Amino acid sequence: MSAAVKIGFVPLSTAPRGTLVVFTDETLKFGPRTQKLLGQAADTVKRAAATARFKGKSRSALELLAPTGLEADCLLVVGTAAEKGQPTDFTRLGGLVAGKIKSGAEDILLVAERPDGAMTPAQAAAIATGLRLRAYKFDRYKTKKKDGDEASSAWQVSIAVADASAAKKAYEPLDHVADGVVIARDLVNEPPNILYPEEFAKRAANLRKVGVEVEILDRKAMTKLGMGALLGVAQGSVHEGRTVIMRWNGGKKGDKPVAFVGKGVCFDTGGISIKPAASMEEMKGDMAGAACVVGLMHALAARKAKVNAVGAIGLVENMPDGNAQRPGDIVTSMSGQTIEIINTDAEGRLVLADVLWYVAKTCKPKFMVDLATLTGAILVSLGSEYAGLFSNDDKLSKQLIEAGQATAEPVWRMPMGPEFDKLLDSKFADMKHTGPRYGGSITAAQFLQRFVDGTPWAHLDIAGTAMAAPPTDINTSFGSGYGVRLLNRLVEDHYEGGKAAKRK
Ligand code: BES
Ligand code: MN
Ligand code: ZN
Repeated sequence: MSAAVKIGFVPLSTAPRGTLVVFTDETLKFGPRTQKLLGQAADTVKRAAATARFKGKSRSALELLAPTGLEADCLLVVGTAAEKGQPTDFTRLGGLVAGKIKSGAEDILLVAERPDGAMTPAQAAAIATGLRLRAYKFDRYKTKKKDGDEASSAWQVSIAVADASAAKKAYEPLDHVADGVVIARDLVNEPPNILYPEEFAKRAANLRKVGVEVEILDRKAMTKLGMGALLGVAQGSVHEGRTVIMRWNGGKKGDKPVAFVGKGVCFDTGGISIKPAASMEEMKGDMAGAACVVGLMHALAARKAKVNAVGAIGLVENMPDGNAQRPGDIVTSMSGQTIEIINTDAEGRLVLADVLWYVAKTCKPKFMVDLATLTGAILVSLGSEYAGLFSNDDKLSKQLIEAGQATAEPVWRMPMGPEFDKLLDSKFADMKHTGPRYGGSITAAQFLQRFVDGTPWAHLDIAGTAMAAPPTDINTSFGSGYGVRLLNRLVEDHYEGGKAAKRK
């Protein structure tokens, strides 16, 4: 994990130093404490604002260096008019602020007060989350740092807030969740020569340090279980596949677990149905689903979630060597159902088929949610804003949609039905694994549904949101860590006993 920016909460009365961040609105007003802090410098701010035509609009900021009459070396005045009271607004605001702070800065004091008053502990904690997520950089493989490349991880951020201890308490679990996001991003950003299935499994095994039980199935174990769909994909690579099962037992003994399943294609060349060269390097991110599951399991364990949770990931590399699977091959999945291979580039669903079946049968979970960078077609449907949601369960779907809104990791429900399922009929086997070009994300989901054994299930197609998505206020790296905050919230709101009721 990369080093994290250090964040603390201090009383509103803390004296300014280093970089001072304050908030204003479109009337250029300040809150009472901020006004007092600025003192005589308030006039300088007014003049600078007029010169820079800074109007306090949301997303805009005014920077003053070495401001006269202030102890601080740099004053950053940030407009916040449009932000409502939602925590997601404040997470985004924290990210925005981090984007405006010079990466070389060290000591930062952020005054968590707006013209209409001090921020609540939850709002201050949300700002802290946004700051951390935006400060993330993946620079492990850069040996020469350019000017401006200084690590934002050297930041020491103090957030001045009315009730510092309440804010600290509110931030504690969020900090563990942010760690989970960082773990997921790191895994997605790692190059595929370093992070192949065996190495990925090793990194997942690090979760033992936070109390997660980790079981690793190698090729022999998977062969014994009859995971022919997953093994068929893996057979074209010199790197063996792995399935990793992670268990966090924070709930009542004997309580059915919730389960999360991730697609972990460490590199997707397409196999024999090889992909075009353009942007193929991005297919190192085809394990983002698995990365999210690892990050989520970390978050749940580190914040000691009162839930029994299973995370299961299928790890393979989809390569085109002399032993690779061919179009026309027929494989037998662990469920016993046979599958005619049509296009070896539709490998993710084959991996998931066996892992979903394994989890349904051996864990008997309350529900399963799988995450997969499954289809290019979902990018055509939903772009990079929403993940596609496919489900056999209305209640779980509703919970996911709400958790998506609450975390700004939104999902959009897509249709399923027998008319789509029919498109997978095969002349030679129980089914083929791809349908026609149109509706490609839906037929992929229909295929997965054949392996859930009636378990309440939701599939999130995260091909547009988890990797190579455009930069946002809270992420500028290739891997976004999408899904960690969403699913953490799902668990927190609905599967940890009375906790959700308390929040409302
Ligand atoms: N990993 C890809 C999907 C993908 C595409 C992820 C773009 C991220 C960005 C998946 O394995 C794949 O190749 N899907 C094919 C399926 C087709 C062969 C039925 C696709 O979407 O073209
Ligand atoms: Mn593929
Ligand atoms: Zn893939």
